[in-house]
Amino acid sequence: MKLLHKTLSLAVLGILTTLVLTWAKADEKGVPVPSSELQLPAGPPFASPEDAIQQRRAAYKLSGGVFKAMKEAVEAGKDVRPFADDARFLVSWSRKIPEMFPPGSDTGKETKALPKIWQDKKTFDERAAAYTAEAEKLAALAEAGDKAGFAQQFQATGKACGACHKVFRARVD
Ligand code: HEC
Repeated sequence: MKLLHKTLSLAVLGILTTLVLTWAKADEKGVPVPSSELQLPAGPPFASPEDAIQQRRAAYKLSGGVFKAMKEAVEAGKDVRPFADDARFLVSWSRKIPEMFPPGSDTGKETKALPKIWQDKKTFDERAAAYTAEAEKLAALAEAGDKAGFAQQFQATGKACGACHKVFRARVD
């Protein structure tokens, strides 16, 4: 009887531990990128074309991380207020995009930038401005704590990313 008791207690303990670990794991998702990591690229003047490529790729990857965390938060129905700084980062970064593609930075260092950027810089810059406009709305909705509005605007912002990538970025696998 005592042994059965012990076995049962251990089993219950095991289940509880699993539950807590699962919760902890769910909590790691949809967490904003900490403000201390939201570094904007220095921008021009660049030491070299490679420097521009490296700076912009780092900033894009950071924005990708921000976007992924937002997606997870939206999917989990989390509070969106903590994402205000992340969304503001997207606004600031999007404003820098036009100056991050100096002549000569079209090749090298694993860049995915397509030549079309330099052939039609006007449209490229317009796509960046469209991204800024969507990200600004996203930031305002985060600040207002409007979960439903944020979820909808997140989709709209994603479309602004895609509208540029489709034309100006090589495929990313
Ligand atoms: C105005 C055009 C434009 C917009 C808008 C834009 N991107 Fe990009 N993105 C690019 C270009 C061009 C590259 C390639 C840069 C390079 O490799 O030098 C890139 C690269 C990236 C990369 C790196 C991919 C890789 O691994 O090579 C990520 C991640 C990314 N963008 C995410 C986003 C997200 C998320 C958004 C919207 C929230 C966004 N981008 C909006 C043009 C844009």
